[in-house]
Amino acid sequence: MTVTDVRANTVDGAWFAEVRELARDRDAVLLAHNYQLPEIQDVAHHTGDSLALSRIAAESSASTIVFCGVHFMAETAKILAPDKTVLIPDARAGCSLADSITADELRSWKAEHPGAVVVSYVNTTAAVKSETDICCTSSNAVEVVASIPADREVLFLPDQFLGAHVRRTLNRQNMHVWAGECHVHAGINGAELTAQATAHPDAELFVHPECGCATSALYLAGSGAVPADRVKILSTGGMLDAARASRATEVLVATEVGMLHQLRRAAPEIDFRAVNERASCRYMKMITPEALLRSLREGTDEVHVDPELAARGRAAVQRMIAIGRPGGAE
Ligand code: 13P
Ligand code: SF4
Repeated sequence: MTVTDVRANTVDGAWFAEVRELARDRDAVLLAHNYQLPEIQDVAHHTGDSLALSRIAAESSASTIVFCGVHFMAETAKILAPDKTVLIPDARAGCSLADSITADELRSWKAEHPGAVVVSYVNTTAAVKSETDICCTSSNAVEVVASIPADREVLFLPDQFLGAHVRRTLNRQNMHVWAGECHVHAGINGAELTAQATAHPDAELFVHPECGCATSALYLAGSGAVPADRVKILSTGGMLDAARASRATEVLVATEVGMLHQLRRAAPEIDFRAVNERASCRYMKMITPEALLRSLREGTDEVHVDPELAARGRAAVQRMIAIGRPGGAE
């Protein structure tokens, strides 16, 4: 199936043409995260994971960025490109994970660990980023922490499951992890994963490290219940690379269900199944076709970041986009 076929299947042609024309008139680049509705992914100029979209935002020559994703992603684009106009089609598109730590809480935590290096997941507010040394995404969290001298204490926030994955991978003891979580990924639990893996014994498992079931996935691999080479802990961009390289006929996917659209485009011959079909992020789904049209017609909702906070957070975000693999978007 070609990209054009997929577009024809999922997108209203008149809407698609109007969105692209309005984007041209505004000199806007349309960015969409992998969890967006299929029609939004298809109309965007670039669809990808958090790291890839941040890099594109930083490098784009367009004067306007329309970020089809959640608020912290649009804020990150504004921090990286302060002279550009950044729009999000619905500013109410928040993130339960970003809400799990405030800048005040981070300042108190830092006071308990003087000299520690603060690593914040990109799923944080601009205020939290302004208190951060290096940001990371799920695709480069391991490399970011590995870049910190081994004798320095690390404060990793806010996702406990991603933090546990990094600590396990690097076997790093001097790393403290904040107990935050994303309600969507935390809800994909080990019991569900085990039941699905048992029902589909030949399937590969693609598991996002924010998931509550990431530890169970490694247990299944470690116990031999699923061959270890079939269990992959991956960011959303990493899942696409793995799908293109896979020889499996069936893959169980543990992440937000919007991801299935890109996976099916990348490898139409594979049967991708959600481990939890109810794992849908209501914030991501606030970016509707109508909201995108309104955004382009009316220039709403514009994202502003306090210039002082942006200046304090910029170095941390720039370190993030400099570390880790290229790609993760198309
Ligand atoms: P990635 O695209 O970086 O894997 O992020 C997942 C996520 O939860 C974004 O909200
Ligand atoms: Fe935030 Fe979770 Fe939604 Fe991602 S899926 S935007 S981490 S609430």
